[in-house]
Amino acid sequence: MKQRRFGSRTRGAFLALSALLVLTVSGCTPDMESFNTVTDRGDDVRWLLNLSFVLSFIVMAIVFGILIYSMLKFRNRQPSEREGNTKLEIFWTATPAALLVVLFIFSIQTMNSVSKEHDDDDALHVVVTGNQWWWSFEYPELGITTANELYVPTDRPITLELKSNDVVHSFWVPQIGWKLDMIPGRTNEMHFTVDTEGEYDGACTEFCGAQHAWMRIKIVATSTSDFDTWSARESQPASEPSSLIARDGRDTFMLVSCAACHTISGTEAQGQVGPDLTHFGSRDTIGGGVLENTPENLEAWLRDPQGIKPGIVMPGFDELTDEQIAALIAYLEGLH
Ligand code: CUA
Repeated sequence: MKQRRFGSRTRGAFLALSALLVLTVSGCTPDMESFNTVTDRGDDVRWLLNLSFVLSFIVMAIVFGILIYSMLKFRNRQPSEREGNTKLEIFWTATPAALLVVLFIFSIQTMNSVSKEHDDDDALHVVVTGNQWWWSFEYPELGITTANELYVPTDRPITLELKSNDVVHSFWVPQIGWKLDMIPGRTNEMHFTVDTEGEYDGACTEFCGAQHAWMRIKIVATSTSDFDTWSARESQPASEPSSLIARDGRDTFMLVSCAACHTISGTEAQGQVGPDLTHFGSRDTIGGGVLENTPENLEAWLRDPQGIKPGIVMPGFDELTDEQIAALIAYLEGLH
């Protein structure tokens, strides 16, 4: 009977081990994109991650190797009393300690290289402000204010000045390589240079209230010339409405309380509560990423923002007529 019991234990251990292995492998195989850092400093972080992964894997292989070997070799023996083994004890205390020291030194080094300021003054400054629940992006040197979609040129140093308007948020776009908290009353800086063109998704990673999940970021990294094209357009005041219905939309925007909260540069709308809408039509999403920016979705949003994103500052406007909503859509979607 005893033998059977040890046998089933070994089998149980093997099952557990295989389950662990399957879980580990399956957990790692889906989309690994967020590990592909696209910034100079993100690559340092990635290197540190790889180092700790390799070290952990070696330790795991040794521990599991000894474990499996012992289970197989001693499976039919009764446990026996053993005196301590000083050499072994020193070995398994000193080895992990040494590994931790190595990781500690490299971590400090990486932290320093990640947080250090850019050497030259050529950096593009963007003031990033966290709000419940959206992001404001301001380019002071370019006279641009936009929201939720951050355009940057590749191969130019970028400095993000991270602030918060209300509670603690955290700026995280995995492919930058690390994240940083946004704390009311304080400015944290993030310095990096993007080396690969593309679109990189991110999100707020500090719980900041009911709609924390809908505080998405999109970084659009383009070539310098594409960025210049974008910034030349973006720094212009809003375009004049091109149709009668869009002009009605502008009048409606100023008449109902939209203008009290939103800015549309070049118009009397100068509100500071909600996102700047000067080039709203060129954005991909509405409401911090909660909806794709299409006329249908904008209609749903205007009719019932609280139904789509409960708790946000923007109230529903029950008094808007169908004509007014159609006009607002024509106006806003025309703002490129
Ligand atoms: Cu902002 Cu979570």
